[in-house]
Amino acid sequence: MKVLVLGPGGREHAIIRALLRDSAVTEIHSAPGNAGIAADVPVHAIDANDPRAAVALATDLAVDLVVIGPEAPLVAGVSDALREQGFPVFGPSKAAALLEGSKAFAKEVMASAGVPTAMAHIATNRAEAESALTSFGAPYVVKDDGLAAGKGVVVTDDYDTALAHAESCFAAGGGVVIEEFLDGPEVSLFVISDGATCLPLSPAQDFKRIFDGDRGPNTGGMGAYTPLPWLPEGFVEDVIERVAQPTVDEMARRGTPFVGLLYCGLAATSRGIRVIEFNARFGDPETQVVLARLRTPLGALLLAAAKGELPADFALDWDPRSAVDVVIASQNYPDTPRKGDPISGLARAAAPENVHIDHAGTASVNGETVTAGGRVLAVVALGETLDQARQAAYAGVQEISWEGAQYRTDIALAAVKNRITIPTP
Ligand code: AMP
Ligand code: GLY
Repeated sequence: MKVLVLGPGGREHAIIRALLRDSAVTEIHSAPGNAGIAADVPVHAIDANDPRAAVALATDLAVDLVVIGPEAPLVAGVSDALREQGFPVFGPSKAAALLEGSKAFAKEVMASAGVPTAMAHIATNRAEAESALTSFGAPYVVKDDGLAAGKGVVVTDDYDTALAHAESCFAAGGGVVIEEFLDGPEVSLFVISDGATCLPLSPAQDFKRIFDGDRGPNTGGMGAYTPLPWLPEGFVEDVIERVAQPTVDEMARRGTPFVGLLYCGLAATSRGIRVIEFNARFGDPETQVVLARLRTPLGALLLAAAKGELPADFALDWDPRSAVDVVIASQNYPDTPRKGDPISGLARAAAPENVHIDHAGTASVNGETVTAGGRVLAVVALGETLDQARQAAYAGVQEISWEGAQYRTDIALAAVKNRITIPTP
C-alpha cells in the first residue's frame, strides 16, 4: 500500500512513524512535511491546502490512500477533490469538516443529535455579547466562531477581557459563541469513523495553555499523555454511546457522512460528560502519544475507514506502557513566533530506545535543523509507569536547546500525583 500524508506538523510525523511500522505499507510520501519527516520519507513541496495540487500529487504517485492531517485542507475541500478522482481518503468532506470549522454548526448538530455540551449563545454584536456574558456569569468563555486552531478561545474571570475578545472577533467580521463554563478535567478522545461505525482510540489529555499551572493564552497544545489513570470505568463506552455515535449518525442522516477522525474534546464535569469542541482531524500533540502506543497496523485501519469498511468489532492492540510528550515551542509563541534558530541536542535527546522526537515547525537550512514555526517539536517517551514516561520525556527535553525555547514543566504532573478528580455535584 502506498500512502500520501498531507500536512506539515508533529501530528503528521507521528502518523508517518506509525505507518512506517505497518508492514503492509510499502511506500509513504509526505506533503509538505518538515525537516524531521524529510529524514524518514520523501517529501513534496506542494501547497497541501490546494485541492488541485493535492490531486496532481496523488495521481503522480498513484497512491492507494491519502491521509489528511490538519483542518485547513479539509475546509478547503481537498478530501472532496481527491474522492472525486477515486482516491480513498482518510479525512472528512468539506461539508462534514464544518463540525470543526464552525462552532455554531457543531452546536446545532449536537442539539439535533441530543449530545451533551455547554449551553451557548451566539453573538454577532456588542449588545448580544454583553447580554450573554451577563446571563452566564464568570468564568466567561468566548469563542471565535471560525477556524482558529484552538487559539480563538478566551476563558477568563475578567468581564472586560471577555468582551474585548468578542469585539475583536466582530471587528474581524465574525461572530462568537459564548458558553457556560464547564468545570472538570478535559479528555481528548479520538474516534475513527467510516461514516457509520465508530472506533475509539485510547483517551489522552492535552495541556492547552502556554504556561505551567494552566496560565497564559491558549495554544494548539503544549504536551499530552495517555492513557488516563483517573478516568472512570466505562467512560469511553459512554462517549461513544452518547456523543460520537449520535453525531456520526446525525451527519449521515444529513447526507454529509463523517469519514475520518472525530476528535471529541470533552470535559468530565460534575454533571457528566460534556463536549467542549469537535475537531475533524487527529489532535496535536495528543496523536504523538496515542499513536506511540498503537500496535495495530495503522495503514489498514485508516484504509478500512476511508473505504467505509470499518468492522464494528475491530479490536485494537495497545502497548501497555504510558506515553508522555512535551512540546518545545519557539520564542514568542503563541504570538508571532521567532524562526530560524538552530536547534541543538536532537540526537542526544532521542538516544534512549523509549524516546523519540516528532518534528513540527522545523526546517533544514544548510544541513542544520532550525526552528520554523510556533510549536517546534515534541519529545515523546514511553514508560512502564506514567511517572517513568514523564521523566524520560523531560530528560529528552533537557538535551534540546535553542534561543528562546519554551516548554511547560508540569505536563502529566497532576495525574502522576493523583491530583485529578472529577467534581461531584
Ligand atoms: P476549544 O477551541 O473550544 O477547544 O477551546 C479551547 C480550550 O478552551 C479548551 O480546551 C478548554 O480548555 C477551554 N474551554 C473551551 N470551552 C470551555 C468551557 N465551556 N468551559 C471551560 N473551558 C473551556
Ligand atoms: N491539541 C488540540 C488540538 O489538536 O486541537
